[in-house]
Amino acid sequence: MSAAPKPRPAIVPAPPRTRVTPGGTVRVIGTLLATNYSFWYGPNQALHDITVEAKPNAVTALIGPSGCGKSTFLRSINRLQELSPRTRHTGDIAFDGESVFARSVDPVELRRRIGMVFQRPNPFPKSVFDNVAYGPRVTGAARERDLPRIVERALTHAALWDEVKDRLDDLGTSLSGGQQQRLCIARALAHEPEVLLMDEPCSALDPIATQKIEELIVDLKREYTIVLVTHNMQQAARVSDYTGFFFLGRLVEFGTTQQIFTSPRDERTEAYITGRFG
Ligand SMILES: Nc1ncnc2c1ncn2[C@@H]1O[C@H](COP(=O)(O)OP(=O)(O)OP(=O)(O)O)[C@@H](O)[C@H]1O
Ligand SMILES: [Mg+2]
Repeated sequence: MSAAPKPRPAIVPAPPRTRVTPGGTVRVIGTLLATNYSFWYGPNQALHDITVEAKPNAVTALIGPSGCGKSTFLRSINRLQELSPRTRHTGDIAFDGESVFARSVDPVELRRRIGMVFQRPNPFPKSVFDNVAYGPRVTGAARERDLPRIVERALTHAALWDEVKDRLDDLGTSLSGGQQQRLCIARALAHEPEVLLMDEPCSALDPIATQKIEELIVDLKREYTIVLVTHNMQQAARVSDYTGFFFLGRLVEFGTTQQIFTSPRDERTEAYITGRFG
């Protein structure tokens, strides 16, 4: 006889993360705002004039056909894309009101605050524990004796603790694909980010592992701003609050996920979400 599925705990909204400004105002943190952002690889313009916002405690999905610039935009947010040679941009992306390109911004610190999860799980060739402890260790953010608590918290947060608590010394690469992806999410969470960028995080996973990650994304938005690139329309409809449709390097339409999927304003959006191209 198979055991009854465990009921999922009810989602209790967590209070949004806030910061008190020097002037004493309490501000919600984790807001991203791109304004007229354009991007070039050499002479080729990959993004045209993107203006879009991602709000805290919400999932913003970016959809669109292959090659339309979704990853380029996502990787621009934490300045990973500028590591490619001969790139340039115009316009701006602000994080909590400050340009990510400001001279005062350290890209390494920016990437800690804006974590990223990639298409293929990419655990380091280290133990499960060391994968998660890696960030706090290299940044010196935690003392060695605090690491077990930090690692447990990040793995719990990533809905992986129960599956790996007896395997912390095993190689991260020995886990299943879905577990590896949650390990990579735990590794990002151990950095205590404000934002998680996810570039097709389920495309290499089977349906069961995909469902786990989707449930996790919905849980995580209680505390984080999440920007999710996906090719999977059902996934965007299931987990996101806002959806942006990219086409040929432009943001053709942006709105609540409900609006985009039930009454798209642009015929290209409608053609894409109904599967007529892409
Ligand atoms: N490192 C790079 N150097 C030069 N051109 C690039 C580079 N990365 C992407 N491009 C080009 O920029 C455009 C946008 O690519 P991007 O990877 O952002 O699209 P995408 O929407 O994420 O596509 P996919 O759904 O296939 O992942 C494409 O024309 C692509 O060929
Ligand atoms: Mg991509």
